[in-house]
Amino acid sequence: MNTSTIRETPVRPALRLISAAALIFFLAGALAAGPLVFEKSEYAGRRARLMDKIADGAAVILGAQPPAGYHPFVQSNDFLYLSGVEAPNAVLVVDGKRRESLLFLTLTERAARNDGIPLDLVSDPAGATGIERVLPAAELTAALERLAGQGYVLYTPFMPEELPRECSTEKWRALQTAMITNPWDGRLTREGQFKKLLGERFPKAEVRDCSSMIWEMRTIKSAAEADLLRKCARIGVNAYREVLKAVRPGMPEHELAALFEYHCKKAGAGDLAYYAIICSAENHPYLHYYKHDRILQDGDFVVMDCGPDLKGYDIDITVSFPVNGRFTPRQQEIYEACLAVHKASLGLYKPGLSADMVKAGVREILEKQGTNLDTDAFKQLSGGFGHYVGLAVHDVGRGPAVLRPGMVFANEPLAVFPAENLGVRVENTVLITADGCENLTDGIPREVRDIEEFMKKK
Ligand code: GLY
Ligand code: MN
Repeated sequence: MNTSTIRETPVRPALRLISAAALIFFLAGALAAGPLVFEKSEYAGRRARLMDKIADGAAVILGAQPPAGYHPFVQSNDFLYLSGVEAPNAVLVVDGKRRESLLFLTLTERAARNDGIPLDLVSDPAGATGIERVLPAAELTAALERLAGQGYVLYTPFMPEELPRECSTEKWRALQTAMITNPWDGRLTREGQFKKLLGERFPKAEVRDCSSMIWEMRTIKSAAEADLLRKCARIGVNAYREVLKAVRPGMPEHELAALFEYHCKKAGAGDLAYYAIICSAENHPYLHYYKHDRILQDGDFVVMDCGPDLKGYDIDITVSFPVNGRFTPRQQEIYEACLAVHKASLGLYKPGLSADMVKAGVREILEKQGTNLDTDAFKQLSGGFGHYVGLAVHDVGRGPAVLRPGMVFANEPLAVFPAENLGVRVENTVLITADGCENLTDGIPREVRDIEEFMKKK
């Protein structure tokens, strides 16, 4: 569904008040109290799908440990995905043979109150989570001995845990260089150490990786996940609209970043999904520039890439705009090339298409429209399908061979012209539906005329 061409219409103050109230009401649903974000059955279904994949064994998933320093506790994404439990030092065992799950957790009322963990996770953890058996953390060793003794294959994720603002594959690459293969370090990841200990303590047991099994499941979002992503997207879209209304020459980049974050958090987001990226002038070639250290000048063109996180789920949006609210002919040329490619892909996405089919289809559409694809603006463009989006902003899983309903990803064509201090990127987060796609982050002015009109509304 290509809805990115919807024109901005003036919103009256009363209407604005009503839509603000509606937004708060709408978000309240997602922010219901209780230990789990989704229904217990949602997590039970995920565990059951994992059991199908590990019928010869059990998966042991380590939960996140308490943070050092004054950071809030955050659960790792795979653990969160399978259990919804946000408490430190928990371990989940998903038993594929007995088709039941065990949660190893020792949580005092005081610790729960201190971390704001709902108390039913202390008084009735099995009832609160739907996990069949909840045992004290100290019983984990005996349970693993029993599983190994009964000839279970022991599955565990080999890839590093993914915490907020982290992406497991990128973390793995960084840790390999900085730690694992660093001759002056050489430590294993926590997962590597756990795998090693399982091998040493249960030499007869086979230890296998289950990261890709969980990741494959995470690639396809359920209706409940899509709904939460939709809510997160509304927060991001609204924050961008506020930023676009406020921006003007003389504004420091850090003020743009602060405004975006303020509007996201005001609407109920927990954090940003990643640091706010703001590229302008000489910083355009550094596509993830995040220092926010320029004062925006009349004539500057900005690429702003930010997204909120709501209840662990992320959204990815990039908006490109002139600081003074008026495109120069050259800014318009490169921007419209990028937008044309982006819109053509949104018009094509549907289940069954491969990335190559989309690429060929985009070319065909633009040629039919009489677009000259031989300009430097079109030749410079790269990107398109960027990465999955979900519990991580660069969510787990390789790019799709073929689009399937429930996939959520960022479409992010971009181009950079360093000699001209110019860059452009148009990015929306898109959900593949049964017969097309839904632009989750629709509602930001995208056409040149709409951006210019919108930015006049100071
Ligand atoms: N939002 C940053 C990126 O996709 O790389
Ligand atoms: Mn992206």
